[in-house]
Amino acid sequence: MSNSISTPELTENEAREELARLAELLQRANTLYHAEDAPEISDAEYDSLKRRNAEIEIRFPQLKRQDSPSEQVGARVSVGFSKVTHAVRMMSLGNAFDDEDVADFDKSIRKYLGLASDARLAFTAEPKIDGLSLSLRYENGQLIQAATRGDGEVGENVTANARMVSDIPQQIENAPEILEVRGEVYMSHEDFERLNARQAETGGKLFANPRNAAAGSLRQLDSEITRSRPLRFFAYAWGELSAPLADSQMGAIEQLNSFGFSTNELTQLCETTQEMLSHYRDIEAQRSTLGYDIDGVVYKVNDLALQARLGFRSTTPRWAIAHKFPAELAWTRLEAIDIQVGRTGALSPVARLHPVTVGGVVVSNATLHNEDYIVGRDSKGETIRDGKDIRVGDWVQVYRAGDVIPKVADVDVSKRPGEAKPYVFPTKCPECQSDAIREEGDAVRRCTGGLICPAQAVEKLKHFVSRKAFDIEGLGAKQIEMFYDDPDLPIKAPVDIFTLQQRDAANLNKMANRKGWGAQSAGNLWAAIDEKRAIPFGRLLFALGIRHTGESSANLIANHYGSWSEFERAVTAASDLSGPEWEDLLGIDGVGEVMARALVSAFSQSAERESIDDLVRQLQVKDAKRPDSSGSPVAEKTVVFTGTLEKMTRAEAKARAEALGAKVSGSVSKKTDLLVAGPGAGSKAKKAAELGIETLDEDGWLQLIEGA
Ligand code: IVH
Repeated sequence: MSNSISTPELTENEAREELARLAELLQRANTLYHAEDAPEISDAEYDSLKRRNAEIEIRFPQLKRQDSPSEQVGARVSVGFSKVTHAVRMMSLGNAFDDEDVADFDKSIRKYLGLASDARLAFTAEPKIDGLSLSLRYENGQLIQAATRGDGEVGENVTANARMVSDIPQQIENAPEILEVRGEVYMSHEDFERLNARQAETGGKLFANPRNAAAGSLRQLDSEITRSRPLRFFAYAWGELSAPLADSQMGAIEQLNSFGFSTNELTQLCETTQEMLSHYRDIEAQRSTLGYDIDGVVYKVNDLALQARLGFRSTTPRWAIAHKFPAELAWTRLEAIDIQVGRTGALSPVARLHPVTVGGVVVSNATLHNEDYIVGRDSKGETIRDGKDIRVGDWVQVYRAGDVIPKVADVDVSKRPGEAKPYVFPTKCPECQSDAIREEGDAVRRCTGGLICPAQAVEKLKHFVSRKAFDIEGLGAKQIEMFYDDPDLPIKAPVDIFTLQQRDAANLNKMANRKGWGAQSAGNLWAAIDEKRAIPFGRLLFALGIRHTGESSANLIANHYGSWSEFERAVTAASDLSGPEWEDLLGIDGVGEVMARALVSAFSQSAERESIDDLVRQLQVKDAKRPDSSGSPVAEKTVVFTGTLEKMTRAEAKARAEALGAKVSGSVSKKTDLLVAGPGAGSKAKKAAELGIETLDEDGWLQLIEGA
């Protein structure tokens, strides 16, 4: 392999071609490494290709590709770690983008807890560190396990590497018997520069930013490499504990500090929203001199008893929020507008940009949202950008905040080239030529091709195997594209994934002889597919990609119905829009009419229903994990709250009932078991009386659940 050409003599065009060639080679090397036991190139050759790629990227930063191999941190080592199931799920944080969002956060907490606007409610405010989170488990004071966040439930076991981080104590005096400490692994700016200089000298891999360097250093199979990398750790949270650390967030952080952990010095107690915002501005002002990357400020309710009452939504706590620093902006030329067809048929315009660096990342694609956005109108038909439209050739402003997809935010019409023409949005699907229509009230134009549109089918399949859905190792978006058009073993629908091995056996086991595959890699794929046949109900429902049913609503629905068979029966019956099952579905808090209609329609349209049934026959769907409600007097009961509650807020009452295994519904129907009616209860109480449903007042309810 010729890797000896040095970069200086490359022209820009040659460099672009070379980066494309390297991206392809490295991608192939990665696939082979994961799929085969005999990769085509050695580790040294692999590193040398990556180094050459990084050198060209440094000389021509504007050419860095979206799929740049240098962004694929540790891609080659990710198979090597064992998995760890977190004893307590690792949560992420909701975001606030401006002062008003912070004020709303304070208000929503007061509302949930039923606190007056002038009642004392203190928060801690601390920097949001831009690194990667890590959970450390100590038993009897000894560090016994370190795990990355992963998907929040299951992470990677990086214990040997965590032992190499000097900020992480191996042993703690006077710790509770079980102590899980959580925090962020990061690299300082100085250490990052030094590491990259050393890598350049020794021909090692160059890192794009300190976060990638920290991630790549922690996720090394050889912990001696981690030892040579200067990683640091800030503790800011905890998981399982055998005894509480303190009764306040601040007290707990001080306790962690006294156990020997580094905690952030900029953590401060704030008594009002004004104090929170003023501390945010202080931290923002110090951002460039801190010596490490932060991307916002995290506020947390200080009182741990209140944190416990507030609890969690599906993936984020109600008691904390991340106030992000403003997005970064840059101007560049719009080179083209392409249309992508999504899994629901939506035609999405994508801006192809002359590459530009926005907040340290090279951006060459950005979203243009929809056809109205291009014309200069919002979803309500009102003028945006003073009505300026966006044309190919325009000078446009690109906006990027955190990890979200960059977007085209503005246009400078004074720089518009004379020949630029208004963009004409297609009315035919560019993938299958079916009509693309826009229904009234919908901002989006959609391809009407349904299952015959290959773009929709492929996107649906990619969603099906994505991380939060079936997450099949070795079967990602790239492989889906490959199998979709495969003449021997096509995957056209989800069920085809689960018949792949059987079809291959009937086809003389050709998989093992394919280019890039071998007996072992085919065997690995069959095993990875089989492993996912037993799938939790919520995941399956999310994976189906039914419009409007996202991850958290899929879980709400799964929790409500408990089992797939019960759900299937109920959602089929719900097509009678005047019947009890439709009412029951609509009664699920978080399920609105639009979502309910889409669900009912998916389960009543024969082709889609058939495809779901075929799939389910190949699976064992696991019942939704209900909270442990043994001994609960309201387990499995459908409860409706109405009228004014005086001892707790509606939201808290609902969360408590659900924690005891009850289903909380918003409307009274024949399926209701219990109505809890406070003063002022009206039509619901009347309907309950008519249906002969047991009714309690708030005290009666509290007595019923007392001690449960
Ligand atoms: S608290 C249950 N505090 O931000 C709440 N997270 O966007 C747990 N992060 O996954 C998180 N600095 O990796 C918390 N001071 C801080 C943080 C912080 C960085 C990360 C963490 C989390 C992510 C959420």
